[in-house]
Amino acid sequence: MAENLTVLDSTSSKTDRYESLLPQLKALVTGESNVVANLANLMAALKQSMDFFWVGVYFVENDSLVLGPFQGPVACTRIGFGKGVCGSSWKEQKVLIVEDVDAFPGHIACSSLSKSEIVLPAFKNNKVWLVLDVDSEKLAAFDETDQKYLGEVIKIIESL
Ligand code: SME
Repeated sequence: MAENLTVLDSTSSKTDRYESLLPQLKALVTGESNVVANLANLMAALKQSMDFFWVGVYFVENDSLVLGPFQGPVACTRIGFGKGVCGSSWKEQKVLIVEDVDAFPGHIACSSLSKSEIVLPAFKNNKVWLVLDVDSEKLAAFDETDQKYLGEVIKIIESL
């Protein structure tokens, strides 16, 4: 694995920051087979590189999502199927972008500081294996650029 992370600051565009980060994420997980170790480092690198308030994964376990590796404030440990943004992404098996979490029916507020959110499902054997959840303290922080590049992060996660 690579041991250093080169981080572009917020004067760089979001696209440039993701473009710089993605090969580094791939290098981070190369040669390590432990899934939790790899997810932990991926979440740390994402938090270190982007202006995210919270970034982490929730694993599908029976009828719930269960908190996995994350970076940010402490969070809810379990989320039901179809509940909140994460449970809805799992149920609908698709990416959800929420510009204003207060306007999302059933949003689960782990922190009142979180204002917008993107959740992407990752699949294993054609079933949702986990969801990647990213929160921002800013309204409408996530767009198609995040969907595209976090989709690339999902491909790395699915390859673990
Ligand atoms: N807001 C999420 C819950 C997880 S936390 O944001 C970390 C939701 O509504 O599913």
